[in-house]
Amino acid sequence: MKNAKLNVNDEIIELPTFKGSEDEVGIDITSLRSKTNHITIDPGYANTGSCLSSITFIDGEKGILRYRGYSIEELAEKATFTEVCYLLVYGELPNIKERDKFSKSLRKHANLHEDMKRFYDGFPLSAHPMAILSSMVTAMSAFTPESNSWEDDDMDHSMIKALAKVKTIAAFSYRKSQGLPFIYPRTDLNYVENFLHMMFSDSQEDYHVNPVFAEALNLLLILHADHEQNCSTSTVRMAGSSQANLFATISAGIAALWGPLHGGANQAVIEMLDTIKKDNCDYKKYVNMAKDKNSDFKLYGFGHRVYKNYDPRAKVIAKAADRVLNELKLDDPLLEIARNLESVALKDDYFKERNLYPNVDFYSGIIYKAMGIPTNMFTVMFALGRLPGWLAHWHEMVASGTSRINRPRQIYTGSKIRNFIPVEQR
Ligand code: CMC
Repeated sequence: MKNAKLNVNDEIIELPTFKGSEDEVGIDITSLRSKTNHITIDPGYANTGSCLSSITFIDGEKGILRYRGYSIEELAEKATFTEVCYLLVYGELPNIKERDKFSKSLRKHANLHEDMKRFYDGFPLSAHPMAILSSMVTAMSAFTPESNSWEDDDMDHSMIKALAKVKTIAAFSYRKSQGLPFIYPRTDLNYVENFLHMMFSDSQEDYHVNPVFAEALNLLLILHADHEQNCSTSTVRMAGSSQANLFATISAGIAALWGPLHGGANQAVIEMLDTIKKDNCDYKKYVNMAKDKNSDFKLYGFGHRVYKNYDPRAKVIAKAADRVLNELKLDDPLLEIARNLESVALKDDYFKERNLYPNVDFYSGIIYKAMGIPTNMFTVMFALGRLPGWLAHWHEMVASGTSRINRPRQIYTGSKIRNFIPVEQR
């Protein structure tokens, strides 16, 4: 490929360009500052590639998402979440032997250290489960000394422990918020069954995992498993680039995910749909509010930095929401409200001109709700799904051996140097 030419103060410099495997092109500006003393400014990083990665491909214009070359639609239909975890972290789908060994390790490590349970006592019942999740994941570093080592085997153990235990931490945060006893994981259940068992078992009675729930959860976790350099994954790469241990790094990703513009949107969507329901389904009012630049209100679950077409994950989830409610013989008015809101927004010029479509968070909450998962757990569910993606990106970065600490620059716009004035003279 030809070099790009940049004219800086009438001096032309050449910058190498390169193509990715799907023909997307980048300009390598690593020599820009040393050659020109200039930097680039790109608030929100909409034009900045932070790394090369072989994990996930998105074509936002065409609405394409693939993990390691496999289309999201095919994985959603045919894979288990455990297989997808393996695929993201190790690069290939596991064969039977690899899958069984991997599943066995996840089951073996699913229990938390008994002392970790005591941390839950310190949280008020009203604590948001995301607050508990991020604190407990950081605390995991104290119980996993190998997470401070960069040996291949130690990194692998740490990743397995993260995958195995974060779902237990998540289920325990729900039990804590309900004032219910913790239910321990079982070695005879698979990943999603184990999570549902730890969430909903009654300590006095046998609990049978509803296969409709298990199938829906498997699907939702797969659809959330990775999304290339989104806010939380970039945060994981940022924190991990300082060589912070894996659990501190993942906890940084969890914190970034929490906001309503990112993973917190799934909670915000259900709250928004509820508000619309209470307001006599006045869709136009809310669509107008979302368009009003003087209002903070957004249509949560709509729009995306990368997708300028229907989010392929939202398509799959919208169909699944229908199916799950049908199979469970549930009639949730919020599904109808979501469909109507989508239809009003998609006909509106503001949304059409800006290519704003429903994203992954628009319909997911309706399924979680049908499964009995409370609204404030929705973002925790997103975190559970996104965990393998965070691990895969962390591992790709660390294992490459070429990564530097991530440290953007800035253009300073503050005061020039000035003299200190003693407090009584100010
Ligand atoms: N409601 C109203 N207006 C919107 C919305 C929305 N949901 N999303 C984007 N816009 C407007 C935005 O204000 C801008 O308007 P203008 O051109 O007049 O300034 C225009 O559409 C283009 O926005 P953008 O540059 O594409 O937006 P962005 O890339 O900065 O932000 C976003 C992406 C997802 C944060 C944003 O669309 C949003 O806030 N959506 C609602 C929150 C949400 O659903 N988040 C979940 C994202 S998907 C799951 C995940 O990855 O976490």
